[in-house]
Amino acid sequence: MSVSGKKILIAVSGGIAAYKIHFLIRDFVKKGADVQVIMTPDAENFVTKLSLSTLSKKPVYIDFYNENGTWNSHVELALWADLIIVAPCTANTLAKITHGMCDNLVIATYMSAKCPVFIAPAMDLDMYQHPSTRQNLEMAEDFGHFIIPAENGELASGLIGQGRMAEPETIIKRVEEFFDQEIQNKTLAGKTVLITAGPTYEAIDPVRFIGNHSSGKMGFSLAEEAVKRGAKVILVSGPTSQTAEDKNIDVHKVTSAKEMLEKVFQFYDNVDIAIASAAVADYAPKEVAKEKIKKNDESLIIELVKNPDILKTMGEKKTHQFLVGFALETQNEEENAKGKLEKKNLDMIVLNSLRDEGAGFKNDTNKIKIFTKTEKKEFALKAKDEVAKDIFNFVESQLLK
Ligand code: PMT
Repeated sequence: MSVSGKKILIAVSGGIAAYKIHFLIRDFVKKGADVQVIMTPDAENFVTKLSLSTLSKKPVYIDFYNENGTWNSHVELALWADLIIVAPCTANTLAKITHGMCDNLVIATYMSAKCPVFIAPAMDLDMYQHPSTRQNLEMAEDFGHFIIPAENGELASGLIGQGRMAEPETIIKRVEEFFDQEIQNKTLAGKTVLITAGPTYEAIDPVRFIGNHSSGKMGFSLAEEAVKRGAKVILVSGPTSQTAEDKNIDVHKVTSAKEMLEKVFQFYDNVDIAIASAAVADYAPKEVAKEKIKKNDESLIIELVKNPDILKTMGEKKTHQFLVGFALETQNEEENAKGKLEKKNLDMIVLNSLRDEGAGFKNDTNKIKIFTKTEKKEFALKAKDEVAKDIFNFVESQLLK
């Protein structure tokens, strides 16, 4: 039930257990999954492309190129998949996975993937217990992959012990449990989340601008976390080199505060949660010079005018939205953050202080305090991905009230 409609990429490597893949494909297809098979060249010694493609109802790919010279794009295959299963995974393929030895289509596809990866090892018992295999399995787990341990029984060598690839039913059960858990984790399903990220650039002339050090990392981490929780995510970002890993994030690139304001209000009415993590320039040059300003004088005065306060406008126009602001402070941090919470009519504010090492701009880490009108919670220095989780956990706890 839970694999229905899921895109499952099965990567077969060269072991005797490859014969079981026929049953694995057949049962996934029966349950409504969309199955694509790729193989290592050695796998073809154990199973044929024809049998696997008949069951998966799709061509099976082994090489980077077809006979007619067309490219089998490992990148497209990887990005297509909701989940990859390497089964059987031989000791050799496992070692290539953990060491990035990218000499075949299976490994190139695996290395291009952003989706969860399941590994079902199969090998003889001594190979399975060898320190290098144990270490590689641990490394694969550290990469965040899911290992479906080999089972005990009679092996191709005639020896009896652990090394048999898990049965197709076991693999399918693990995958189903994974997708079921994913559904349970979709705590923001049905919600639309709008996030602002990055800096804004305010043009002085055709080559210069006023900007700031925001990298966009905090905002992009928030967007990734929201989409993982099942939300529809709109990300309005100023100029940054960040790219959204999840293709479901609807990214809108803007440059100036005025453009950000306009883009935000294109969506604002229909969002449930809005989080303003962008570092918006408070002022912009009154006039933008049409030509590059020449350095004729000893000093240059540029008149600046106030930019629109996007978050304050969001607060004024708030109807049903849960509105979260950020406060980047260097002094009187708590007082200033609470002031912004009040003045901008926010439901919650996330304070980060440049006085805390590793917090704020550019870093991969941040250290935050969250305030609502009645609550305060302090968090340790963490990776921005983890900070994003803390923020959404807090938002969700407020929505439940
Ligand atoms: O991008 P990174 O390198 O990962 O860094 C993350 C960050 C430090 C930029 C982020 O964590 C952060 O603190 N963002 C808010 C920065 C900021 O502009 O703070 P502020 O205290 O000046 O503004 C308060 C709030 O009003 C912010 O939510 C801001 O988005 C918003 N604002 C400010 C001015 C303005 N004209 N319009 C706004 O919407």
